[in-house]
Amino acid sequence: MDFNNPLSLLLVFCCFSASAASDSRQGRGFFGRVNPENTDEVILDEAAIVTLKSELTTVFIPILYIVVFALGFPANCMAIYVFLFRVKKKHPSSIYMANLALADLLFVIWIPLKISYHFNGNNWTYGEPLCKVFVGFFYGNMYCSILFIACLSVQRYWGVAHPLSQQRKNNKVAIGVCVAVWAFIWLSTTPLYLYDQTAKIKDLNITTCHDVNIIKDPLNPFPSVQLPFYYFIFMGLVVFLVPCVVIIVAYILLLKTLGNSMGDSTTSKNRRKAVVLIVVVLVTFVVCFIPSNIMLVIHYSLLKDGLPNNGYSFYISTLCLASLNSCLDPFIYYYVSEDFRDHVKNTLLCRSSRTVERMRVSFSSMKYSRKTKSYVSESGTTQTSSC
Ligand SMILES: *[C@@H]1O[C@H](CO)[C@@H](O)[C@H](O)[C@H]1NC(C)=O
Ligand SMILES: *[C@@H]1O[C@H](CO)[C@@H](O)[C@H](O)[C@H]1NC(C)=O
Repeated sequence: MDFNNPLSLLLVFCCFSASAASDSRQGRGFFGRVNPENTDEVILDEAAIVTLKSELTTVFIPILYIVVFALGFPANCMAIYVFLFRVKKKHPSSIYMANLALADLLFVIWIPLKISYHFNGNNWTYGEPLCKVFVGFFYGNMYCSILFIACLSVQRYWGVAHPLSQQRKNNKVAIGVCVAVWAFIWLSTTPLYLYDQTAKIKDLNITTCHDVNIIKDPLNPFPSVQLPFYYFIFMGLVVFLVPCVVIIVAYILLLKTLGNSMGDSTTSKNRRKAVVLIVVVLVTFVVCFIPSNIMLVIHYSLLKDGLPNNGYSFYISTLCLASLNSCLDPFIYYYVSEDFRDHVKNTLLCRSSRTVERMRVSFSSMKYSRKTKSYVSESGTTQTSSC
């Protein structure tokens, strides 16, 4: 596992956002007061304008989104392909992972809009509906991923504790759970579509998406942020904290079960697999879910009282880091599913063996006449199509 490079990148990123946060220490936080002369526009204070113009939001965050897209899109496409068409004997864990990959893919496809938004100087040119769609799929993906990771963790424990339970019945339960999770997520993201996500900033002539909350009455800010405040408190307590507890309990029981059974080679192999899974899930939570959920609750608690959020840049960065879960989840598939692991290895190996084959073909064609060359390259194509 090579977490070295991404981790050092993260460290740089965190330092950068922390220094940007201390720059805007004087700020009143990120809410726009409605312009009394033109109610279409909002007025921001100087510190907020500085953050919107900063390199953090116009360079570093879009670069991180490019990384998420470049890794997350192909990896999750491949995962869906493998779990749907390549896994012969369907298992509850592959059902959960296929759904997790689908949730990631549904979010990842909207990232290019977000990248161009940040590179454009935080100017959202796609209109309010698409901004709502992006925000809805962003949080939908986040809570969906947490729930499916919890399901997968419980299933891993169940599979080890009750190895002889009926597969067919377990698959039915898994499909039922997935349908329930999707229904819950579609329902629970609807509040995000009910309030304005875009805000036209007066002096910058830009339209932000989800980055600025509009406060209608600065003396009484609560009604303007009531909906997102209750929403993120609820999601943080119910859809983040409860699955967290479930996951922790599942892993404690899993390790206990593996510890109790006598140490033959299968058990030690299972034990290693379980530990690797726990480490990957732990990294996902520490990087993606814990900081963003804590900062969401803090951010909206401050907003509702009209208090400044000095860590606004940090808050924005944690939300961006949350999107990294879409490219960390494939590590889960890799360590849990043998089929996915084989497919990834084959894809990577196939490419290099194809290169070797091409070199061999061109080498041999130098020795033979033109006639044989066409024959040889034909066999070369056959080789390629078998990959
Ligand atoms: C924004 O637009 C106004 C008038 O439309 C113009 O006076 C101002 O210079 C513009 N500001 C920027 C930063 O482009
Ligand atoms: C932001 O986009 C709008 C709509 O395309 C455009 O009119 C405006 O000039 C842009 N603002 C800046 C600062 O480029």
